[in-house]
Amino acid sequence: MSELLDRHRAVMPSWLALYYDEPMAIVRGEGRHVWDAHGRRYLDFFGGILTTMTGHAVPEVVKAITDQATKVMHTSTLYLIEPMVALAERIAELSGIPDARVFFTTSGTEANDAALLLATSYRRSNQVLALRNSYHGRSFSTVAITGNRSWSPTSLSGLAVSYVHGGYRLRSPYRNRPDTEYTAACVQDLRDVLVMCTAGDVACMIAEPIQGVGGFATPPDGFFGAMHEVLAEHGILFVSDEVQTGWGRTGEHFWGYQAHGFTPDVLTFAKGIGNGLPLAGVVARAEIMNALPANSISTFGGGPVVAAGGLANLEYLLAHDLQANAAKMGARLAAGLTGVAEQVPMVAEVRGKGLMQALELVRPGGMDPHPQAAGAVMEACRERGLLIGKGGLYGNVLRIAPPLSVTAAEVDEAVATINAAVHDVDGAQ
Ligand SMILES: Cc1ncc(COP(=O)(O)O)c(C=O)c1O
Repeated sequence: MSELLDRHRAVMPSWLALYYDEPMAIVRGEGRHVWDAHGRRYLDFFGGILTTMTGHAVPEVVKAITDQATKVMHTSTLYLIEPMVALAERIAELSGIPDARVFFTTSGTEANDAALLLATSYRRSNQVLALRNSYHGRSFSTVAITGNRSWSPTSLSGLAVSYVHGGYRLRSPYRNRPDTEYTAACVQDLRDVLVMCTAGDVACMIAEPIQGVGGFATPPDGFFGAMHEVLAEHGILFVSDEVQTGWGRTGEHFWGYQAHGFTPDVLTFAKGIGNGLPLAGVVARAEIMNALPANSISTFGGGPVVAAGGLANLEYLLAHDLQANAAKMGARLAAGLTGVAEQVPMVAEVRGKGLMQALELVRPGGMDPHPQAAGAVMEACRERGLLIGKGGLYGNVLRIAPPLSVTAAEVDEAVATINAAVHDVDGAQ
């Protein structure tokens, strides 16, 4: 393994971070379990960054991919692609966006890039509102709307971006206010930003309903509906980045935006729909989607193999009502994690929805972020056979997000493991 690590370091970029003191290679997966190169089995509660949605090696999904690969792998969007059209029909119907059109890309970054292209073209404006503590991708345009220093390697951009308050309540100046007052304060801030920091004719606001990389920061329900009311007064479009919150992961809704009582103009998706295949895209009302004044194309977006696999994955999700499972298992996971948090002062907050749960860790006796403890808990979980993720502005948030097919026994096992790991680390403080 160290030989592979040496080879990795010799040829890959230095900024491509690896998890764990001794990075691991995952060579096989089945259901909610994965195996490393030494044959050791782990319960996977991060799903390759919330991407393994229905589970590893789901036979129906694997069969759809292999069947399509044996027929034709690639044609390009210059030709009709039946699985792509079928998937677009399903997503358009599920999106909740009226008269929806779907454009497929290969990553969430590229989906958000396309959303920015649409919104700025439609509105003839380069001004964009984004949220503090956001993450929308790695490309030149999406780094410009990412409000997190750790993921912002450059300030250069053709976009004029203003950042408004979002759902990261724990460290917000409005943190002690009840839900409605918190939302009202953020809405007032949005109004202030519009008149103080923009020329008024802003193209769009882009927001993650629950911030993923930002450590599952969750605003009160209705928050984005209240923001949307202000935006609508100015004709500003709302882009809902559903890359992590889509497909029922939050349990209570199919899309994250649905907790907020409004419909976005544009929605972007990625991760879970492909279950690991490079499949993503953007949904918009026809008048917005069709506003581009020139041709556009994605050579690979929605190609035959990824579309067939994505469609099978989506049908599996719907047929097994994995959203309902996410609601049930999410409640079980949240209750278990709350029980862990009550025993150790190191956990400042348990937050999230459904199968998107986070623990923010702080130094004893205060609110200083404790990224070392988060790293140590991750290591201790791995030692005990459980994979979880990390995130947050300071790298001090544990992110727990298993595939939506997770079982009660697996949730209980993960909670017991996290409990033991947190106590190990707490005891060593
Ligand atoms: C909310 C959100 N948007 C966009 C992206 C970018 O997606 P990708 O890594 O597929 O480019 C991510 C990735 O983590 C994300 O979490």
